[in-house]
Amino acid sequence: MEFNIAVLGGDGIGPEVTDQGVRVLEAVGRAFGHTFNLSYGDIGGISIDKHGTPLTDETIGLLDSNDAVLFGAVGGPKWDSPDAKVRPEIGLLDMRAHMGVFANIRPVKVYSQLVESSVLKPDIVTGVDLVVVRELTGGLYYAEPRGRRETPNGIVAEDTMRYTEGEIERVVRVGFELARGRRKKLASVDKANVLECSRLWRTVATRLAAEYPDVELEHVLVDACAMQLIQRPIDYDVIVAENTFGDILSDEASMLAASMGLLPSASLAGVPVAGMRSGGLYEPIHGTAPDIAGKGIANPTGSILSVALMVRYSLGLTEEGAAIELAVDQVLGQNVRTADIVTEGTQQVSTVEMGDRVVAAIEQGS
Ligand code: IPM
Ligand code: MN
Repeated sequence: MEFNIAVLGGDGIGPEVTDQGVRVLEAVGRAFGHTFNLSYGDIGGISIDKHGTPLTDETIGLLDSNDAVLFGAVGGPKWDSPDAKVRPEIGLLDMRAHMGVFANIRPVKVYSQLVESSVLKPDIVTGVDLVVVRELTGGLYYAEPRGRRETPNGIVAEDTMRYTEGEIERVVRVGFELARGRRKKLASVDKANVLECSRLWRTVATRLAAEYPDVELEHVLVDACAMQLIQRPIDYDVIVAENTFGDILSDEASMLAASMGLLPSASLAGVPVAGMRSGGLYEPIHGTAPDIAGKGIANPTGSILSVALMVRYSLGLTEEGAAIELAVDQVLGQNVRTADIVTEGTQQVSTVEMGDRVVAAIEQGS
């Protein structure tokens, strides 16, 4: 089959890790007889430097004309001044909004090979397999009013958290559907003891639960969730949270898996079903890591596993997705590690070498 993929590496380590994701995609193409037509575009800081804006009409055109988007990361110290007029992150936020990808799915699976690499104790992280479903196109990230203004009492800054019932329902539904296909446990995260938005979130989640009698729904306050995630993460199956809470909790959860560099994500405009074909945005959950950018040591696994999600959920290629995940598993089993997860007795490899190994595992498997 033939597919069109937009590739947006962005800033910092974004392009390096995305390159390895692309190599793995091409290896899958060779192994399974598919053609992937790649269109590259700018986003974020590099786009500001080249075109004066973090998301050009040309790149928006790529979002519309491709089967899926593979994205790296945006941002960096160069564009970070609090007074900057244009920010790289706006490119990412506008892209998410443009694509309508309200459900950001972030699986956190602890590989048995990496239990010793985690900063947490092995008995806490062993066997952890959870998914964070983060609301991605609403809440504090988008609602108006927002901004900064001078007042007689000094400068005031404001952000707004706002959710409609509909926005809550569609993302909590993704949580229920995912839970239904897994261990049937959904933790709905909120701060209902303080926030109006959270009280509505809880009402909507409770109402939806009636449609999913087979799924056990638990409401968890976000602060308690943050604690339990490192205390007894094994108890979690699917977690669904609003945008900002989900952003924070998924970074925290990544530490269970030893490194942020390992985790992929899929951003979709509906319930994910293996084998389905619908546009989506795929990105590792990590950022641009300016401190290691260009050194060739970043972990490309997050991007590679994002490609696995992409072929499964946007291209309808279930077997191919499994082949990528198996290849990553095998490479970790060969004791090959990038700098972020290297431990005594394992072999440290570069970003490109990690890509080489995964590509080789796919070639051997086919
Ligand atoms: C993420 C990132 C982004 C976010 C930033 C770069 C705007 O942290 O994808 O989690 O907050 O959504
Ligand atoms: Mn984040």
